[in-house]
Amino acid sequence: MLFVILGKLKLPVKKNRMNNMKIIPGIASPSLSLKIATALNLKLAKTTFREFPDGEIYVKVENFDDKNIIVQSLISNEDIVSLMMLFDALKGTEIITVIPYMGYARQDRAFEKGEAISIRAIAEFLEKYSSKILTVNLHSEKGASYFNKLINLDATPLIGNYLKEKDIVMISPDLGFCERVKVLAKIGNFKFYCLEKRRIDSKKVEILAKNLDIKGKKVVIVDDIIPTGETIIKAGKILLEKGAENITAVCVHPVLANYSLNDIYRAGIKEVIATDTIERSISKISVADLIANELRKLM
Ligand code: R5P
Repeated sequence: MLFVILGKLKLPVKKNRMNNMKIIPGIASPSLSLKIATALNLKLAKTTFREFPDGEIYVKVENFDDKNIIVQSLISNEDIVSLMMLFDALKGTEIITVIPYMGYARQDRAFEKGEAISIRAIAEFLEKYSSKILTVNLHSEKGASYFNKLINLDATPLIGNYLKEKDIVMISPDLGFCERVKVLAKIGNFKFYCLEKRRIDSKKVEILAKNLDIKGKKVVIVDDIIPTGETIIKAGKILLEKGAENITAVCVHPVLANYSLNDIYRAGIKEVIATDTIERSISKISVADLIANELRKLM
């Protein structure tokens, strides 16, 4: 308990529970870290990331506190190694780990004997150092089942609100995301359709679309993640062939590997919009308040 001394009177002062907390910006999430810190009225610790000539990563954290909130998406292997270093730099403190985009989540089971279950390995790593783990739209329920300390937030209502006023038809590119798109479509009272997708390999997909009434309509394809863009490109092509006026693609996690945004635009998609779980030029919808509100409950 703190006291202030007013003349001879000692008055107890309620200590702000967040006074001894810092946001630790990870290398992959600098802008989102700042937005979350601003929303929570917390300070950012200073983090330094450098690469040695041999490719090894150097990490330093200054001005950290007894309790720390790391914000770091796991987009690349470097992101995972630098997170490992952050955990070490903060050793002995309480750490809440915010992983806005949880990479390695799609390998959530062993399809063949001897395969690593990638998300299980990531879960075990994060659980070891964190008092709580927050993420946004983890790819599958199965993936989430490997965690004990996970809070899995849903950013799709933010997408619904962003599109609310528009005159559009909504499309799920596969049956897996159909239920979410159904809920989203309700927010703006949009007509919606779910396509069927068959994955041939990690880069090729086949899309089936039946009975769509989209002639002359502005169509928005919504997906949780765009890694190669193949799904959006194939779905967009079919929707344009069926008479859509134009196509926008919206997703939570814009992975967009290998400059695939170029391929998507070249395929005739008018616009691509995403959240900032991965910070890209197209990240127009922020998950900062969604995450900050949840963190507030934990403090
Ligand atoms: C699949 O389950 C996901 O929701 C996405 O549709 C998929 O990951 C998209 O992949 P790509 O952009 O590589 O086609």
